[in-house]
Amino acid sequence: MNKIQLGSSDLQVTRIAYGCMHLGGSWDSTPITSENRKKAITAIRAAIDSGINFFDHADIYCRGKSEEVFSAIWDEMPSLRQKIYLQSKAGIRFKGTPGPADVTRYDFSYEHILRTVEGSLKRLKTDYLDVLLLHRPDVLVEPEEVARAFDELHQSGKVRWFGVSNQTAAQMDLLRHTLSQPIVAHQVEFNVIHTHLLDEGVNFNQDNPRLARNAGALEYCRLHNITLQSWGSLANGRVTGRQVENPSNAITDTTGLVAEMAQQKGVSREAILIAWILRHPAKIQAVIGTTQPERITNACQGDAVELTREEWYRLYTAGRGESLP
Ligand SMILES: NC(=O)c1ccc[n+]([C@@H]2O[C@H](COP(=O)([O-])OP(=O)(O)OC[C@H]3O[C@@H](n4cnc5c(N)ncnc54)[C@H](OP(=O)(O)O)[C@@H]3O)[C@@H](O)[C@H]2O)c1
Repeated sequence: MNKIQLGSSDLQVTRIAYGCMHLGGSWDSTPITSENRKKAITAIRAAIDSGINFFDHADIYCRGKSEEVFSAIWDEMPSLRQKIYLQSKAGIRFKGTPGPADVTRYDFSYEHILRTVEGSLKRLKTDYLDVLLLHRPDVLVEPEEVARAFDELHQSGKVRWFGVSNQTAAQMDLLRHTLSQPIVAHQVEFNVIHTHLLDEGVNFNQDNPRLARNAGALEYCRLHNITLQSWGSLANGRVTGRQVENPSNAITDTTGLVAEMAQQKGVSREAILIAWILRHPAKIQAVIGTTQPERITNACQGDAVELTREEWYRLYTAGRGESLP
């Protein structure tokens, strides 16, 4: 699989990354079953066999179980750790933790960032993370605290590189103004039917409610050598065969177009979705979260699919649900 450099880091990462969110099975405190473990190992193996070298986690996925079950792969493939990159995230705290009255909130405090990384390292059974992302923007962020946490994690060798997720350009600017560690990645929701990242640029100066949803994040990342990572890259299956109740015209049209292009090119529908993301010159890394080995293999075909400008714009227009101004 083709590789890209992750932002200004020294990591040569595959253009498609595997998202481990669903590996833990359920978002409750029920223990990991042997069935969960088997399914997780099969999915990780399918990703590796397809050439993927980058795995995306978060402390909260399935309440820690996704990281924990992932670590079972070390027994199966003992020399794997040095061959792959592990990314995890910190910053979201669930309601009811630690106190029953606590609401869902974001926390970029020094203590929470350090505590979260310790937990991830323990569950993943590894000494270091290759990348740590701040998960969702903390309204009460103190950039100096984040800087102190990042420096300490970097100096201790626990985290090599840092990034963010779901942030505006201004939020990234605020952090970068204070941090001594570079921001190398920014993870946002992006796929053929979730195109806000692009829409604000083409809707500029139009009477259109989609304006300013992303506040220049795409251009900011390109200007500052921050690799964009797309989450939800497969649109949760909504245009590749999953039954959708009361689908919008955009979903119906995109589903038809994706199937037609897949047939024309002799590839899977998932490959068309991934090729659409990879075609953007920002060199976006596509994170896929399916746990089905066949869908993982299908999506990875997208690395070798070239879309013309015309094909790309047809998909964009179908996914937006309206033609360009
Ligand atoms: N930074 C953030 O805030 C954030 C938020 C969400 C996710 N993420 C990351 O991004 C990764 C990918 O996101 P994602 O998993 O939400 O998106 P995704 O890759 O678009 O979708 C994967 C989900 O869609 C289902 N699916 C795909 N194709 C299907 C089909 N044809 N029929 C039925 N179901 C289908 C999969 O089920 P099967 O497993 O059964 O195939 C799986 O539940 C996550 O794993 C996580 O690492 C980050």
